[in-house]
Amino acid sequence: MQAARIVFPVADREEIAATTAEILRTGALTLGPYTRQFEAAFAGAHSGPNHGAPGHGAPRAVAVSSGTAALEIILRCIGVAGRDVIVPANTFFATAEAALRAGGRPVFADIDARTFALSPQTVTAALTPQTAAVVLVHIGGLITPQAGELRQICADRGIALVEDAAHAHGSSYAGQPAGSFGTAAGFSFFPTKVITCGEGGMILTASQDIERDARIYRDQGKGDVSANHHVRHGYAWRMSEQAAVTGLVHLRRLDEFIRRRREVAARYDEVLAGLDGLQPLTEPEGCRGNYYKYIAILPEGADRARFRRQLAEVYDVRLAGEVYDVPLHRQPVFAEFAPDAPGQPSARSGRPPLPVAEDLCARHICLPVHSDMTADEVDQVCAAVCAVYDTLARV
Ligand SMILES: Cc1ncc(COP(=O)(O)O)c(C=O)c1O
Repeated sequence: MQAARIVFPVADREEIAATTAEILRTGALTLGPYTRQFEAAFAGAHSGPNHGAPGHGAPRAVAVSSGTAALEIILRCIGVAGRDVIVPANTFFATAEAALRAGGRPVFADIDARTFALSPQTVTAALTPQTAAVVLVHIGGLITPQAGELRQICADRGIALVEDAAHAHGSSYAGQPAGSFGTAAGFSFFPTKVITCGEGGMILTASQDIERDARIYRDQGKGDVSANHHVRHGYAWRMSEQAAVTGLVHLRRLDEFIRRRREVAARYDEVLAGLDGLQPLTEPEGCRGNYYKYIAILPEGADRARFRRQLAEVYDVRLAGEVYDVPLHRQPVFAEFAPDAPGQPSARSGRPPLPVAEDLCARHICLPVHSDMTADEVDQVCAAVCAVYDTLARV
């Protein structure tokens, strides 16, 4: 069984193919009606109570070429150049790289073991007088119940809270959807995501100013689409119409996909409850995640590589990619930003940096979850995990 499966039912494929033919016939290949429809539908799917900052209304969506572009554009709109951007250590490369490309400096923060997310304590510990933004990543599609507190910490200090919602299409906390907790949020439509269009991203914001600037940035910084008059250092961050129609059709499946993913997760919860020491990341009360990832934590000292290998070789079950196996401050490319790098303030304290992120990155696993997973497949994974876990416990 594959770690991920991209699900486009036949009816969707036919609709996308027919619409793509029509797009090609008309020649309206970019920034056209399907991009606008996808934006409106995505905003509609993520509107809820209390959307955005006080005084702002419903979500506004801007489609872009990738989730990475969405984050960089948001950080450029906020203006982080020459300033610090707090990001969790356990996120994808793109979260920190977007901060760097927007001219900021990534500051890596630790996470809360209960949510795999930043917490008020870890953010407060990472704040500097130069902090311009905090990027909250909804790892695995789970929104931390502390998002509101994080928002308040940021608001009190005039700092922007940005959501990296690349994993979190359709997730919510207390009925409030992903994309509505911060100043702006970036989503990804990379193929492995719950909803995909091949390559693409979406910005959600309740801010009229950010929406306007994001539209300028995504199209080469042009102040006016019809003229070569460049007012921002934008880039070729547009979404094609073919991608937009793919996303538009796929988005209709969001509720159905999340429902199935949650059923799979509920079954995994039941089975893992019988395995002493293998701890699933449980949803805190009020969270309704999309289960982009089903995360479980192995006991200390367990050999994750061996666990993965046995599942694959003996039982043909491939685990999904971790989120993430190497924390970003241990990635060669970000070495200079590691808290224990020479010259960093916490290097002087001599404390081990970001212990929770280091620990959890090293020993969690992600069970396969597909949007159309069958009961037999779920049983196959459960049986394999139980059997391999049993041998692991006896090593
Ligand atoms: C947490 C996170 N942030 C950002 C991105 C970047 O998205 P994309 O691959 O669409 O650029 C990804 C996705 O792959 C991600 O998982």
